[in-house]
Amino acid sequence: MPILFDEKQKLFLLNTKNTTYAFAVAERGFLTHLHYGPKIADCDVAAMRRPFCKSFSPTLDNIDSRDTALAECACFGSGDFRTPSILVRQSDGHAVLKLTYKNHFIRKGKVKIPGLPASFAPEADVETLEMILVDEKCRLECVLLYSVFADSDVIARSAIVRNRGGEALRIEKLASCLLDVGWEIEKFDLVSFPGSWARERRFRRTPLSDGVHTLASACGITSHRMNPAFCVCSREATEEHGRVYGMALLYSGDFASEIELDPFGSIRMTTGINPACFAWELQSGEEFHAPEALMIVTDGGFGDMSRSMHDFIRAHVMRSPWKSRPRPVLVNNWEATYFDFNGEKLLALAKSASELGVEMLVLDDGWFGKRDNDRCALGDWVENTRKLQGGLSLLSKELQKLGMKLGLWFEPEMISEDSDLFRAHPDWCLQIPGREKLMGRRQFVLDMGREEVVEHLFERMRAILDAAEIAYVKWDCNRYLTEVGSAVLPPERQMEASHRFVLGTYRLHELLLERYPELLIEGCAGGGGRFDAGMLHYVPQIWCSDDTDALERLSIQYGTSFFHPCSSMGAHVSACPNHQTGRTISFSTRGIVALAGTFGYELDMTKLSEAERTEAREQIALYRKVHPIVLEGDLYRLTSPECDPIVAWQNVSKDRKSFVVSWVIPHCTPQQTALRIRLRGLDPERVYADWKTGERFRGDFLMNFGLIHELRDRAGDGAGVIRVFDSAE
Ligand code: DGJ
Repeated sequence: MPILFDEKQKLFLLNTKNTTYAFAVAERGFLTHLHYGPKIADCDVAAMRRPFCKSFSPTLDNIDSRDTALAECACFGSGDFRTPSILVRQSDGHAVLKLTYKNHFIRKGKVKIPGLPASFAPEADVETLEMILVDEKCRLECVLLYSVFADSDVIARSAIVRNRGGEALRIEKLASCLLDVGWEIEKFDLVSFPGSWARERRFRRTPLSDGVHTLASACGITSHRMNPAFCVCSREATEEHGRVYGMALLYSGDFASEIELDPFGSIRMTTGINPACFAWELQSGEEFHAPEALMIVTDGGFGDMSRSMHDFIRAHVMRSPWKSRPRPVLVNNWEATYFDFNGEKLLALAKSASELGVEMLVLDDGWFGKRDNDRCALGDWVENTRKLQGGLSLLSKELQKLGMKLGLWFEPEMISEDSDLFRAHPDWCLQIPGREKLMGRRQFVLDMGREEVVEHLFERMRAILDAAEIAYVKWDCNRYLTEVGSAVLPPERQMEASHRFVLGTYRLHELLLERYPELLIEGCAGGGGRFDAGMLHYVPQIWCSDDTDALERLSIQYGTSFFHPCSSMGAHVSACPNHQTGRTISFSTRGIVALAGTFGYELDMTKLSEAERTEAREQIALYRKVHPIVLEGDLYRLTSPECDPIVAWQNVSKDRKSFVVSWVIPHCTPQQTALRIRLRGLDPERVYADWKTGERFRGDFLMNFGLIHELRDRAGDGAGVIRVFDSAE
């Protein structure tokens, strides 16, 4: 049994494969956290409780103070002065709560979270603890959920608030997860993934200093600016060693993760919906579910944390059947044509791509309504037969003749002012009466919280998807939310609009997946503006960034890989000079970097030189060889683009019989001799043979000595190497 309750000590033990999470019911029914770390077989509550600091920490009976106790759930205004995990306004205007133990259930299986993404597993492989706390005064129940999986160290958490009283309540904050750790000698760092458009998820490691550090999005979507996943790690932690706590939220809207170092050396981590953009009215008898959060701890460094997260997300979060299927090699016409295309141009592009082995044409923005530029037509999801004579149906048939499939771009949640949809339903977009609506990429945002909006979008998408053979959808979202108000919500519910937007977006995903379970959907939001574990519940891959420059991508893909599997990272070879940076990098290195994720092209393939066409053919053959390893194997980040002169990474098959190692030297420096790259994760006794050259090495040699990269003067920036090895036995 992974979840144990010791009645005598009132102790709960959550045992994963390698870790123990322990807490107990203490005096007067408060939950007190005891341990999260490597496995402990016997826990003695008395020996593990944190002695409290009396000075300035109010208490009822001088036994314990909420302020210095480690918590599972922290109420506002009741003696714990750290970041609260719950704040609920009551009819008397107060928001003070005292949540104490009422009862608990330990059940097989996993609780579903209505309308929100959640991890899953067969009932026999997961156990859930439902811990029910109560505030006697306002008769509010708070349920803390903990799910432990047989095959993983990841624990899934979430929370529910139930109004059992007679008066309405207003939830102003409900964190999905609170974790109190620390009060050790060790010093800790905070690792976050900030960025902006075209610079997403940059790895940032800073010493964790006193006070509260908030990592958040108030953009209405996950955003490019910050990712809802972070680590707290020991200052000594490296890729392969040291304590790392990881936390990721399954949510694609406004989030806030708060990390607090308190004056007594303990660290509190919370994550959940951003309270600055949220409040929820809860009538008597109703309940509210917070999104799910994932947490993990390891002493095996960042690499171990990432590999566990990748396995967990692939097995228990992603539901697409495509998660373990090789993805089609595609060509996307966006950077090849932008809005300037017609059927003929597309077919010429597809033909030249198909000759090289490309399997799918993705028709990006501009195929619908009067959309010849980004000023109009979002929402008018009808084929533009002026541009595409014969429509999508003919295009898909022509592609079939070339042995190719058709993929199609949508931006469902958006609406242009110049659109038939806006003219018919001006109240369907988010707005606040009497306030100007801001434009973002000259478009407004639909009020996805309204059922009729979601239904309309589903009907429109269904009409398109049924009219032609469409095997793939790219789901884009190109602006942040402002003036987040809904024409149909009463004033006291306006702060629900942002969360309702997210629920509506997820609902549309549900409808599509129910109807088209085989559809491959790639997420996107102006590149990687909605790259989170919640979205990966619906889509198996997400366009990593609008920055397709191979050197920039090294950092973007590196940061993304901390929590998200390689198989989820949309990556393409694009043209040079690169459209975002103006830089020119060799065709070969562009391929190496794109091979680290899902693979495709985003350039005019009719313009490739003969030499490039030969290389593209080779890249696609290589893709077929390496993709299964990238899709399901283990990732080892060998070096870091943030501080090393060489960026190297390795994917190893689960049976450790095959691996692919790649490296890029971002900046050429003259008068250097060579670099040695030591590999990881291999079977030390196995002999591996290079797929191309036949060269043989034993695993211990590769891991303890390594491979040599000779540095050449005048090699140019971005020289790259990719090598694939198979077991020689
Ligand atoms: C932003 C996406 O990230 C691009 O790849 C492209 O689809 C454009 N939108 C189209 O408008």
